[in-house]
Amino acid sequence: MNNLFEIEDKIKKLTEEINQHNYNYYILDNPTISDYDFDVLLKELTDLENQYPQFRSTDSPTQRVGGEITKNFETAEHIYPMQSLSNTYSSGELLEFDRRVGEVISEGYEYVCELKYDGVAISLIYEKGHLARAVTRGDGVRGDVVTSNVKTIKTVPLRLRGDYPEFLEVRGEIIMPFTSFEQLNAERDDIGEPPFANPRNAASGSLKLQDSSLVARRGLDFKLYFALGDSLPGGNHYECLMKLHEWGFRKPDVMERFSDIEGVLGFISRWDEKRKELPYPIDGAVIKVNDFAQQRQIGATAKSPRWAIAYKFKAERVSTKLLSVDFQVGRTGIVTPVANLEPVQLAGTVVKRATLNNENFMREYDIREGDHLFVEKGGEIIPKIVGVDLGMRNPCAAPVAFASRCPVCGAPLTRQEGESGIFCTNADSCPPQIKGRLEHFISRKAMNIDSLGEGKVDMLFSNGLVKNIADFYSLTTGDLLGLEKKIEGGDGAMRTLSFREKTVENILSGIEMSKKVPFERLLFALGIRFVGEVTARKLARHFGSMDAVANASREELMTVDDVGERVADSIVSYFNSTVNLEVLMRLRNAGLQFEVALDAKDHTSNRLEGKVFVVSGVFTVPRDTIKEAVEQNGGKNASSISRNTSFVLAGEKMGPEKRRKAVQLGVPIISEEEFWNMISD
Ligand code: IVH
Repeated sequence: MNNLFEIEDKIKKLTEEINQHNYNYYILDNPTISDYDFDVLLKELTDLENQYPQFRSTDSPTQRVGGEITKNFETAEHIYPMQSLSNTYSSGELLEFDRRVGEVISEGYEYVCELKYDGVAISLIYEKGHLARAVTRGDGVRGDVVTSNVKTIKTVPLRLRGDYPEFLEVRGEIIMPFTSFEQLNAERDDIGEPPFANPRNAASGSLKLQDSSLVARRGLDFKLYFALGDSLPGGNHYECLMKLHEWGFRKPDVMERFSDIEGVLGFISRWDEKRKELPYPIDGAVIKVNDFAQQRQIGATAKSPRWAIAYKFKAERVSTKLLSVDFQVGRTGIVTPVANLEPVQLAGTVVKRATLNNENFMREYDIREGDHLFVEKGGEIIPKIVGVDLGMRNPCAAPVAFASRCPVCGAPLTRQEGESGIFCTNADSCPPQIKGRLEHFISRKAMNIDSLGEGKVDMLFSNGLVKNIADFYSLTTGDLLGLEKKIEGGDGAMRTLSFREKTVENILSGIEMSKKVPFERLLFALGIRFVGEVTARKLARHFGSMDAVANASREELMTVDDVGERVADSIVSYFNSTVNLEVLMRLRNAGLQFEVALDAKDHTSNRLEGKVFVVSGVFTVPRDTIKEAVEQNGGKNASSISRNTSFVLAGEKMGPEKRRKAVQLGVPIISEEEFWNMISD
C-alpha cells in the first residue's frame, strides 16, 4: 500500500468499521466481534494514523485513548442555562407536585420516571453532527470546556448518525461506576494519594485532569437525560430520548411512563430497593411531565423547571456486627475510636470500618461488645454509624471500654476541659503525632515542600532521619541517597522504593526553597494547636516576628482579632516548651523567615496598578511568593497569556509555547531580577 489515496481510504474504512463495533458494543450492548479481533483493528488504525497523521479524522476511535493536554480549562457560556431540579424526600410532597401539575393541565398527562444519576452534569454540543464542545455545569451560566476529556468516554458519540439536526445540545450526567471507583482508590492508595470520598467527586476530579489519556483510564460513563434545541424530535421527552438513541446515544437503562402519580410512587419504591443491584451510583429518581407542550404550559422558575421534580432516596442502611474497636492517634494527639465491622455490602461498596468519633459518641449510643450496629451511607461514601440494633443485643454484654493509654506509645491519655476529644499526652515523642506534624509542615498551605509527600516523610521518619521539623534542614545527600522502604501494593505484593540521585536533588532543593517561605506561613506550619492559616496570618501581621509572638503575654495575644483564650493559651504553652524552643533555634539558624519580610511590609505599593502578569517557570523563590508580590503592589496575576497581559515574568524552564505566544502578541518578557527592580525603590 503505497498510494496515498489508498492509505487515506484504508484509514477511513478502518475508522468506520471500528466506530461501528464501538457502537454495537457501547450503545446497542450487542458486540459482533471478539475483543482480540477488535484490538487488532484498532492497532492497525493507530499505526496508520501515526504514520499518516494528516488522515486522522476528528472522530477517530483512537481519540478515545486521549493524549491531549489542557493546562487551563477555558470557560464557555451555556446557550441555555443549566438549571437544577427541586428535590423532595417525601411521597407527600410528590402528591403536592402532582396536584400543582393537575391545576395547570386539566386534560390528563403522563409522567416519565428516570433514575437520578449521582455524577456531574454535562452539556454536549453537536454541530453538524460532530461533538464540538463538552461543557460542565459550572455556575449554571458558564462552565468549563472539557471536550478532550469527555471525548475519551466511550458512550459519548463523537459523531451522530442518521437524520440528526444541524445543531443539537444533549444533557446528561458523567458518572463513575463502582468498580472503576474502587479500582481508582486502590491505585491512589498504592501511591500514597488520598482516596476520593465518593464516585461523584471522583468523576468530577477526573473531568478536570489535564492529561486526557489519564481520563481515558478512569472508566467514566455518560448517562443521557435530555436534549435541547429549536427543533427537537418527537412531541415528548420519551420519544425524544428514543430518537437520540437512533442518533447514536445509549437508551437510558431505566425509563418508564405512568399515567398517574400512583404509578410513579410504585416506581420509586421499586427502585429504592433495586438500586442496590445497580453498578453505578444513583441518589433518587427524576419525575418529568412527558409532553413538551404541557411542559411549556407549566413553565419554570428562575432556578428549576416546574414540570419536573427529583425524589431523593434516603441513605441506605444495614446492620452489621461490631468485631472490635481500634484507637487511632492523629497529629494533635487526639485519639479516635474506629469500629471494625463484619464486612457488609452497602450502597455499592463493602464496609469494614466506621468511625465511632469520640468517647461521648460511644456512651450516647451505649455501644457494647458484640453489638450489631446500624450503618448508613448517604451521598458521601464514608459510612456512618447511626444506631444500635437493640433487638440483637446480648443483655450481659459489657460496654466497650475507651483506651486507657495511648495505643501507639503507651502514654497516659487526658481529656481537656470542655472538649469531647481525648488526647495522648506525649506530644514530643508519640510517633503518629510527630509524623502528623511533619506532614503538616511540608503541606501545600504551610511550607509547600512538594518534593516531599506523605510517603517520603514516612521513609525519613522510619529511618530515624527526621524526628522533628528542624531535622529537614540538616538532611544531606549522603543521608538520602539509596534510602529504601518496602511498601505493600494493592495486590498484596511487596515492592522496594529507593531514593535515586534525581529524587534526592529534588528533595533537597525543595527544602532549600522553603527557607524563603514567608513568616506567616512558617508560623502556620509549626502546627501550634488552634493556629490555622488565617490566625497565623493575623498574628504575623500584628507582631511582625517570631520573637514578638513568642514573648507576647496571653493578654497581648488576645488583642489580635480571632484570638480567644483557648488559642492564646495554646500559643503560650507552645513557646514555653524547651523542646519547641530548641527546634525554633535550629530553624532560625537554618535561615528560615522569622520576620515579616521587608517586601511585604513596605512594598505594599501601587507601582503595578493596572498591570497583568503571567508568572511562568522556576524562580529563586517559590512562585507563590512572586505572585503575592505582584498583588501586594497592586498588580494582577493571570494564568494564560493574552492581549491583556502586560508582562510575562519568565523563570527558568519556562515552556516554549508560552514564550512563542508572548512574542507573537508582543508582550514583553522580563526576568526575575527585572521584576524585583520594578518594585524596589
Ligand atoms: S433532568 C432542569 N434527569 O440532577 C434540569 N437530571 O438537580 C433537568 N440529574 O443538574 C435535569 N439524573 O445533573 C435530569 N435523569 C435525570 C437526572 C438529572 C441526574 C442531575 C442533573 C441535574 C440535577 C438536578
